[in-house]
Amino acid sequence: MTILVSGGAGFIGSNFVLDWLAQSDELLINLDNLTYAGNLENLSSLQNDPRHLFVHGDIGDSVLLASLLAQHQPRAVLNFAAESHVDRSIHGPAAFVETNIVGTFHLLEAVRAYWGTLDDGGKAAFRFLHVSTDEVYGSLSPEAAAFTEQHRYEPNSPYSASKAASDHLVRAYHHTYGLPVLTTNCSNNYGPYHFPEKLIPLMIVNALAGKPLPVYGDGQQIRDWLYVKDHCSAIRRVLEAGRTGEVYNIGGWNEKPNLEIVDTVCALLDELRPRADGASYRQQISYVTDRPGHDRRYAIDASKIALELGWKPAETFDTGIRKTVQWYLDNAQWVADVQSGVYRDWLEKNYTGRSA
Ligand code: NAD
Ligand code: DAU
Repeated sequence: MTILVSGGAGFIGSNFVLDWLAQSDELLINLDNLTYAGNLENLSSLQNDPRHLFVHGDIGDSVLLASLLAQHQPRAVLNFAAESHVDRSIHGPAAFVETNIVGTFHLLEAVRAYWGTLDDGGKAAFRFLHVSTDEVYGSLSPEAAAFTEQHRYEPNSPYSASKAASDHLVRAYHHTYGLPVLTTNCSNNYGPYHFPEKLIPLMIVNALAGKPLPVYGDGQQIRDWLYVKDHCSAIRRVLEAGRTGEVYNIGGWNEKPNLEIVDTVCALLDELRPRADGASYRQQISYVTDRPGHDRRYAIDASKIALELGWKPAETFDTGIRKTVQWYLDNAQWVADVQSGVYRDWLEKNYTGRSA
């Protein structure tokens, strides 16, 4: 048995690959084109593991996809590959349209063609799982109910609009062609291997480097935070037991304003790695101009996945954020390699001369 994962060198994808192979002996094909966000150092523990086959390639490469699918006959394809940073989508939306919309389209086309070659049993058992985001639902007022799967799509950034478009394509491939798809819409993840452009890892690495902690606007924007390993367990559960054609919202029941997140990170660092001058890291907080079109609040109603599939997060925010801060303290070399760009040499170092 084989599964194919796209984007498995990124933050969530690499956590998923590591967790999957800790529990399964299936071959896992990891297709990733290693943008700035793809980091094979995350997967260095799998270096000699025959169950992990890394393929340096693009989800938009139809020829490569057709050959991988024909050769390996996966029972499932999980799509994590994306451009994922909202601020980057504001500065340069083209890559988001290219990967998140056009890339997902090419992936769906290749999967549809492959699926058509399977016998009836293979067709029925096959799954295409699309990893999406709560941002497609737009922004909530303070008193509004959390997003359910029925909430209308109202994406506000180029990133969320591109993810919304990909969700619609996935839905259409089920409705029109009968492709057995599953879509998950998750809230903000945090945890190991999180690229330090996103709020939590940026605050940790900037604090330790003595740099300002840039809080956008008034810092009262609310996000729902989920430890990344809990997201991975939810995806495994949806893959295993989700009903095809269905959408499952995934969240941590854990809404917090950004300023509280930054404050918690500072408090943990004050405890675990106090500043030399004895002052709190809170002194480094610096209010900066807000993100254009900044969504005020996201909140996920994760009742459906709890009631239907029996999934709930294992970590509370207190346990997850402590583990996360500790991970960054314990992995200073990973942070240094990411910041210096050294991690980008890993592909050459590790894979040149290796045959697939
Ligand atoms: P990430 O940016 O850390 O990783 C994305 C990965 O995809 C990278 O390894 C990158 O090299 C790869 N990739 C990009 N374009 C590609 C292409 N054209 N072909 C092949 N690979 C490509 O992202 P992440 O935070 O791990 O997010 C993974 C998925 O989960 C995304 O679809 C994102 O929208 C979704 N999501 C993320 C969060 C979050 O909080 N990070 C929450 C909900 C949903
Ligand atoms: O909700 C799920 C989404 O969460 C995912 O789909 C995205 O891929 C992921 O990047 C994340 O999007 P956000 O925009 O919510 O994450 P980010 O870490 O960029 O920002 C979190 C909040 O913190 C947001 O309100 C903006 C704010 N922020 C962010 C940065 C980087 C700051 O105040 N200062 C910062 O420097």
